[in-house]
Amino acid sequence: MALRWQRLARLDEIPVGESKGFDPHGEGRDSLFVVRTGEATVVAYRNACPHVSGARMAWKKDRFMSGDGRHIACFGHGALFRPEDGLCVSGPCQGQHLTAVEVAIRGEELYLRLDDVCHEGAMQREFCNG
Ligand code: FES
Repeated sequence: MALRWQRLARLDEIPVGESKGFDPHGEGRDSLFVVRTGEATVVAYRNACPHVSGARMAWKKDRFMSGDGRHIACFGHGALFRPEDGLCVSGPCQGQHLTAVEVAIRGEELYLRLDDVCHEGAMQREFCNG
């Protein structure tokens, strides 16, 4: 089966060290977010804190990073996560991980891999069947 990808953004829309939320499937909320960890590196996770099922993490649109920019932060109860692997290193869910989402950089564009998303109960959605 061929891998399916969906364009998310131009890479330069996310400055190095900053984050951006996305609603690639039109759910009316940012279901995932991307952190640009370097000039040519990004990580992406579901916008769902492991502390409370379904809890969104940003306090404001695209604000997923701690004040010092070193960690991903959940503003629900202050959990801090390592950007590189989503491990919670401080807070009520210490030792748990964010759920990674696969993204790829192609040229100047950022793409989301749809296959993983579509294997987790979302097969009925239009974007998974296209
Ligand atoms: S909901 Fe994220 S730390 Fe509590």
